[in-house]
Amino acid sequence: MQDRAGFTEFVRQLPKAELHVHLEGTLEPELMLALARRNGLPLPFPDVAAAREAYDFTSLQSFLDLYYTGAAVLQTEQDFYDLTRAYFARAAQENIRHVEPFFDPQTHMNRGIPFGVIIAGILHALEDAEQDFGITSSLIMCFVRDLSADDASRTLQTAHRYRTRIAGVGLDSAEVGNPPEKFTRVFAQAADLGFHRVAHAGEEGPASYIADALDLLGAERIDHGVRCLDDPSLVARLIRERVPLTVCPLSNVKLRVFAEMAEHPLRRMMDAGLLVTVNSDDPAYFGGYLSDNYIQVADALDLSPLDMVLLARNSFEASFLDERRKDMLRADIDTFLAGA
Ligand code: ADE
Ligand code: ZN
Repeated sequence: MQDRAGFTEFVRQLPKAELHVHLEGTLEPELMLALARRNGLPLPFPDVAAAREAYDFTSLQSFLDLYYTGAAVLQTEQDFYDLTRAYFARAAQENIRHVEPFFDPQTHMNRGIPFGVIIAGILHALEDAEQDFGITSSLIMCFVRDLSADDASRTLQTAHRYRTRIAGVGLDSAEVGNPPEKFTRVFAQAADLGFHRVAHAGEEGPASYIADALDLLGAERIDHGVRCLDDPSLVARLIRERVPLTVCPLSNVKLRVFAEMAEHPLRRMMDAGLLVTVNSDDPAYFGGYLSDNYIQVADALDLSPLDMVLLARNSFEASFLDERRKDMLRADIDTFLAGA
């Protein structure tokens, strides 16, 4: 790559998938304030600058407190549409071809918003994104792990009638103290109903949560998973079983999982042969979208354009797309490289 601008453009144009992004985490302060005004709600922040200033986190929990406050401006089907639409419009600009976005229905239902309102707005925006931008998606409904397992089960029952429109279930929010085993039953129910299963594990929690997510929840993919490096036998297993990890570098630095990007283990994980992908997690809060994550981690760890291509290929392999569409998207990478 000739220069920095060339590298940036290369990453932005590289066809890729995003497999770990919380729709509520794409709520930019501008839209947050506009929705608060539209819905006649007290503003969580007086202005955009005050919101951004508050985005200085010391831990996952310090972030989650703000994230749930921000999400409370989402009230109507149109609000969920606008949120989802704004993310996909950005995704199109950086040649993201497929997304497996998370949403947290319990957060909204606990505020009295019906499931049908939430899902209608999101699904409408996903349909439009495929029509308008050619971006496909597989929606993943996350259970909030600091709520009870019964609450998760009730949510699954409510979601059941949307089974054909929701590809999978996940597990997010406060990890430490809420181990995978708490959700063994609801994940078994989800499996019986035909949902894919993923889980946040090994972000702040220990490596044993990663093994438990695989063994007790039947997780097909691990979100974050960076703490796997504490356990060499687990790393060997993840490599052997080709378990994908959806790693989020900017998130890890913002939430102080690692003190700075130079300490991020992504390169070590790639060198070890783990099936790692790069993702944005909550881009409105962590200072960058998908390409920013690729570029900033590449800068800090001296990753090459070929490393970027491997990460993009991994993103398609790790997705829930069928093999035909994966082949098409991998061919798109080859076509892009032939012209680059
Ligand atoms: N919800 C939104 N972002 C999250 C993260 N990084 N970890 C756990 N739950 C989340
Ligand atoms: Zn996450």
